[in-house]
Formats: sequence, C-alpha cells, structure tokens
Amino acid sequence: MFARSVAVVGTGYVGLTTGACLASLGHRVVCADIDAAKVGKLVRGEIGIREPGLAELVREGIAAGRLSFVVGAAAALAELQSRGTPVEVMFLCVPTPMGVGGVADLAAVEAVVEETRDVIPEGCVVVNKSTVPVGTADRTSELLGRPDVGVVSNPEFLREGSAVHDFLNPDRIVVGSNSSQDAAERVAALYARLGAPTVLTDAASAEMIKYAANCFLAMKLSYVNALAELCERLDADVADVTEGIGYDKRIGQAFLSPGPGWGGSCLPKDIHALLQVADSADFEFRLLRATIDTNTRQFQRMVEKIRKAVTGKRSGSVTRKRIALFGLTFKAGTDDLRDSPALGVAALLKQAGAELVAYDPGIAAASSSIDGSLLTVVDDPYEAAKDAEAIVILTEWPEFRSLDWQRLGAAVAERTVVDTRNLLDPAVVRRADFDWVGVGRAAPYVASSLATSSVSAVRKPA
Ligand code: UGA
Repeated sequence: MFARSVAVVGTGYVGLTTGACLASLGHRVVCADIDAAKVGKLVRGEIGIREPGLAELVREGIAAGRLSFVVGAAAALAELQSRGTPVEVMFLCVPTPMGVGGVADLAAVEAVVEETRDVIPEGCVVVNKSTVPVGTADRTSELLGRPDVGVVSNPEFLREGSAVHDFLNPDRIVVGSNSSQDAAERVAALYARLGAPTVLTDAASAEMIKYAANCFLAMKLSYVNALAELCERLDADVADVTEGIGYDKRIGQAFLSPGPGWGGSCLPKDIHALLQVADSADFEFRLLRATIDTNTRQFQRMVEKIRKAVTGKRSGSVTRKRIALFGLTFKAGTDDLRDSPALGVAALLKQAGAELVAYDPGIAAASSSIDGSLLTVVDDPYEAAKDAEAIVILTEWPEFRSLDWQRLGAAVAERTVVDTRNLLDPAVVRRADFDWVGVGRAAPYVASSLATSSVSAVRKPA
C-alpha cells in the first residue's frame, strides 16, 4: 500500500479515530485542533475520552512517528510540508452542531476553509467527514475558490464506544465527488486495506447517505419502542417479537432493543437536520416527524412507568420521592452525556418533584459536569440505592447485571426496579424480592416462563 500524507482537522470522536486508525494503516497523519490544552494532552497520548482501543492506537502511532498533533489546521499542513511530504488529503472532522431551526451549523467548517485556503497545496483533496447538509461539498468548493483542490464527501459511520472497531471493520466506504473521479478514488484508496465495499457517487448522494443511515436507525428504534408499548397493551413480549422479526435478513437483529428513547450527539441532531432539509425542499417528511414524536413520547412513557411503579398509578405523584438512576450516558461503553435519554427522563422526573441520585460506571462523581440541581452523582451503586423508592436502569451497562440485589434490597426503601433497557434477568431480581418492570415485556412471561418456556431452547443468552 502506498502511504499518504494526511491532515485531520478536529480531534473529536470522529477526527481522533480517523487520525489514529489511518496512522495504524500506515499513513502519515497530522491531527489539528483549535484547543491547545487538548493538543498538549494528545501529544502525550492522553485522549480524554472513553473509547476502547483508541488510546493504545494513538500511542502506537506517536511512537511509530506516523501520528502527531498540532494546534490549528494551517499548522498541520505546514508540519507535513516541513517533513517534505505535502498534504495529499485533508479531512474536515469538525463539529456541526444543531443550529437555529435544526439546521446544521457550519461555522467550524467555514473557519477551517478560511484558515487554510491559501496554504493547501495544489492537487490536495479536501474531505468532509463531518455530517453536513446536502450541498456542503459544493459550498465548500465555492468558499475555497481553488479549482486545483478537489472537495469530496466521505461520511463516517462509526459508533461511539466501538469507534476503532467500526472504523477498521466498516460495512462500506462511501466517497462522493462532483469535481473529479480521481479525487474520490484517491480518498477511497486510503481505506484499501480494509477490503470494504466502496460506493463512489456524487457529493450530494454521499452527504444524503449519512443522514439517511442515521435517520433510518432512529426510525427503527422508534418503531421498536412503539411496538413495545403495543406489546404491553396486548400482553405480547417485545423481546420475542424482535427476535422473531430480526431473523428476517431484510430486517436484521441489530438496533431492535427498546429503551428509554434514543439519543446521543448524532441521531437527534441528524434527524432534525434532515427534517429541516426536507422542509426547505418543500417536502413534508411525515415519517421523520413521527419518529421524533415517538421518541419524545418514549421519555414521558418511562416517567409514567416510574410513577406507576412508585405510587401504583401512572399519574401518581413522585414529589420528594427518592429515586436511584443507574446509568446516565446515552448508551453503555461511553462517557458521553450529550442528548442522553437518561438525562431527558431525569429532567422530567425532577420537574415532577422527585429527588434523584445517580450512579454511572462511566461518570465519576468528582468530574461530573452534570448540574447538581438536577441530580446528585455518586461513585457507588449501593450508595445511590440508599433509601430509594425505586431503582431505574437507564443505560445498558453490562455491569448492572452482576449487582448484588440482596445488598441493594437492604439499602432501598422499596424493592422496585424499572428497567428501561430490559437489561436485567427478571428472575434474578425477583429472587431478591424486587418488583421488576421492563419495557414491552408481557407480565406472565417474565414472571414464570423464562427458564421453562419451550422457546427458551432457541433463545440466545441475554
Ligand atoms: C450513531 C450511528 O449508529 C453511527 O453509525 C454514526 O456514525 C454515528 O451515530 C454518527 O453519526 O457519528 P452513536 O451516536 O455512537 O452512533 O450511537 P448509536 O450506537 O447509534 O446509539 C444511538 C442511540 O440509540 C443510543 O441512545 C442507544 O442507546 C440507542 N439504541 C441503540 C437503542 O435504544 N436500542 C438499540 O437497539 C440500539
């Protein structure tokens, strides 16, 4: 493989993973960020985020001399130039937060273009990896005003918590270009060793693929959360229903677990952005609106479940009731709290007057940036459970499965668990005399038949 000289601008989840993984594939990579303190830490191999395998890859890249970090995009180009290897590809991995009306805010992309316009070497390819509205590649080209520099879109599909694995084992590589086929092929070649199917397309289609994928996932999750509600009403079991439909290869088993709602820094932002794009194209995308509404309702539904578990009534008062929240991050395996459904549920409970104490394996009490007026974070699940009227599982951390429920039983005021992730084995929890409430699980099934059901023979372990 021919090693390329690559600049990566932005060292968030996507940028840092891209830089470290490309270096591990043999490319020479300089990563840039505007945050000097962050760069100072990265130079020492301290990555500051929880992402399995990433710190090791960063340190390996630094040690091998293939990965370095500088402050500012122009400095990254200069660094490569000074090594006699002018940058061939410059990735833009900067944040594109939700701006006014749900539209993506491109200020960071524009600032990098402004900073580097006059110093990008001829023939370099600028790659948009940030999730950007359809048409941004063209807009970037215009802003750049450099016909000798190709602009392509190469969306990233990695998930937080498995970013390195996802980057190195992609389902597909997508590269979209309006300028030249050569620019697109050059970018695709960076990933050649990964052997993934490659979709070469125009820039707008590549940009659309990113939104279409995230919005489809959100739609799948809202569908499954709505199914779970219907299952509750009909005494059907959503775990069996999803297993049953998931074997259909056209549907697939992934992304079929009900939860407290979907969140994170990507799905909510991207669905609002696509809705905004659709609105501006005069297209009423009802399916997306229903996907968002179903999610908003899911948070409220979880609160009703908690009210019912604590008071016996869906609308019962939780004022001054102490509730232990297990899990705050938007999913397990990350320390990211952005747009976390757990915090959405917590905010509704707080509004209703509950007193909240939380434990999360990824969030240390001392370093927690959570507003103390919303909830108190502690470092020990048994301390969180002390005098609680209910324990609510909000994030699917596997370690919650091995908690000592007898010990928790001794700590709580009432032995009630609301498991919004269907994470726990109800039989285990019930053995410690807890009432267990899940999402979309038929009461008779979970009470007695888990071990004896004839279908359990084909059931995979939870
Ligand atoms: C998502 C996409 O999955 C990635 O492909 C994409 O690259 C990324 O956004 C991005 O655009 O950067 P991520 O935000 O890391 O990745 O989170 P997901 O793993 O997709 O989870 C999103 C939410 O859905 C979480 O709240 C999670 O708990 C929830 N979820 C997921 C469920 O409730 N049930 C499931 O079965 C799966």
